[in-house]
Amino acid sequence: MTSRKLHIGTNLKMYKTIQETVSYLTDLERLTGDLADDLCLFVIPSYTALPAASAAVDRTRISLGAQNMHWEERGQFTGEISPLMLQELELQMVEIGHSERRHSFRETDIEENKKVISAINHGFIALLCVGETGDDKELDIGDERLRQQLKVGLHGLGEADCGRLWVAYEPVWAIGVNGIPARSDYADVKHRLIRETLLQLFPHQGHNVPILYGGSVNPDNACDLICQPAIDGLFVGRSAWEASRFDALIRQVLPVWRQKLAKGLLG
Ligand code: PGA
Repeated sequence: MTSRKLHIGTNLKMYKTIQETVSYLTDLERLTGDLADDLCLFVIPSYTALPAASAAVDRTRISLGAQNMHWEERGQFTGEISPLMLQELELQMVEIGHSERRHSFRETDIEENKKVISAINHGFIALLCVGETGDDKELDIGDERLRQQLKVGLHGLGEADCGRLWVAYEPVWAIGVNGIPARSDYADVKHRLIRETLLQLFPHQGHNVPILYGGSVNPDNACDLICQPAIDGLFVGRSAWEASRFDALIRQVLPVWRQKLAKGLLG
């Protein structure tokens, strides 16, 4: 049984300056101030905005994460950010393997694995993103791709690490301005496959890892998605980048999530 909290958050990608991030977070914190303890709300800003973001929000209300991280603590890695540097900011999480990292920056499953291990060993929650491409889907190898990303990406982790692991299912063809949102029943099937794979890897704790859906989540599909038994949360892009729109989306989804819990429908 995964957490009883609705996991919902956003990656701000490369869109907001320091000032814009702080004002977004301040607004989001104020707007969502009355929402209760069953919400696990997180925001993942750009590196440059992290110190100011970290100072601006109450991290018990909004968790903060980094969009990427090198696995080494220090070294000849120009342009990279290490886990020790992120520890100075007291972040809760690190996003690893977003499709833009995998595709624009050619990150491999082996590299994602080193990052996941390093993030967990340094006390962060590792949010590993997985998802099949449009070609994988066409060729009917989407399930194999997901299994591979999970089996390689999580290689070497133990049951005890599950407490610091989240997975985001983000089909590449569903992400961004040109993305086509996945149907909620399709997403649910993939979430079940991810859960099955997690249970193969971690028979005792695999059921505790939250699995979030991401890829063109918007006010029209968010409730359908969160109704699905195997979907534990939402990882939102564009529809969350205005604090008031994100607040409205959360308020739309939270009662549906509570109903699902009340009916015992968790996957
Ligand atoms: P989107 O982004 O909601 O704008 O499609 C999702 C993501 O990249 O995580």
